Amino acid sequence: MLTDLYFDTLRKLIYENTGIVFDDRKKYFVENRVKEHMEELGISSLKEYIYRLKVDKNVLKEFISKITVNETYFYREYYHLKALSYLVQRENFGFPVKVLSIPCSTGEEPYSIAIVLNEVLENPLKFEVVGVDIDRNALKKAKEGVYGRRSVSKLPREYLERYFDRVGEDLWRIRDVVKRRVRFYEGNILDRVFMKGLGRFHYVFCKNLLIYFDDRARVQAVNNLYDIMVDGGYLFLGHAESVSRASSLFEPVKVQDTIVYKKVTEEEDEW
Ligand SMILES: C[S@@+](CC[C@H](N)C(=O)[O-])C[C@H]1O[C@@H](n2cnc3c(N)ncnc32)[C@H](O)[C@@H]1O
Repeated sequence: MLTDLYFDTLRKLIYENTGIVFDDRKKYFVENRVKEHMEELGISSLKEYIYRLKVDKNVLKEFISKITVNETYFYREYYHLKALSYLVQRENFGFPVKVLSIPCSTGEEPYSIAIVLNEVLENPLKFEVVGVDIDRNALKKAKEGVYGRRSVSKLPREYLERYFDRVGEDLWRIRDVVKRRVRFYEGNILDRVFMKGLGRFHYVFCKNLLIYFDDRARVQAVNNLYDIMVDGGYLFLGHAESVSRASSLFEPVKVQDTIVYKKVTEEEDEW
């Protein structure tokens, strides 16, 4: 049984390492994950378990992997991909077009982006996609690039046939033509130094992550994204997320059927 004191210690540890906030209603969820992890490690005392989380980075990463929500699928929120394809044909950022998908979870989002760009630009060398996630187990799946029926159910059939090989009754493997254009890295959106090391991007997809953060972590994440985007670059957020109204870093613009956030350049900002 997880006491309130241990629950507080654990959620503080989670928050410090991910930005994710667990309120009291999530105690049962955390308790179940902790139990499962302790069994795997053969540890019976919570005190010892928390000590291990604090001193062993690998144990901590495994715990983080257990408490993250990895839900994702190909062509999720299609209107964003439609807006991306529209913008790529009109904006003149030069080539290769660089897109970041953070968090990328098991890879469906960055591969969807690569499929759309390959369709629009008709040359895989004209774009590069980077996928980042804090969960190393999700990234392992992303790098394998093999997906079940649920993951591909929203993908147009035509693209399933063009970009995948069927490798089992209900399994499809993404083809190299787009797979080679996507690189994956393990990292935390709140880690400023790590983020800066990723380079600069014209388009950033940051979807279905900020909902798990508090205001402080949200501001830090958006600031870090701002720093790695080119002037006039576009930020795509999940439908339940927005850049704070008070933010002067991004300007909301309507593109096709959705709102995206355009990076305001420092000079524009001063005016
Ligand atoms: C629900 S998935 C979103 C995947 C995809 N963007 C989508 O919308 O389908 C959320 C992901 O955020 C990742 N995550 C949680 N905290 C993170 C952090 N601080 N930095 C990077 N990734 C994080 C989790 O591991 C999880 O894979």
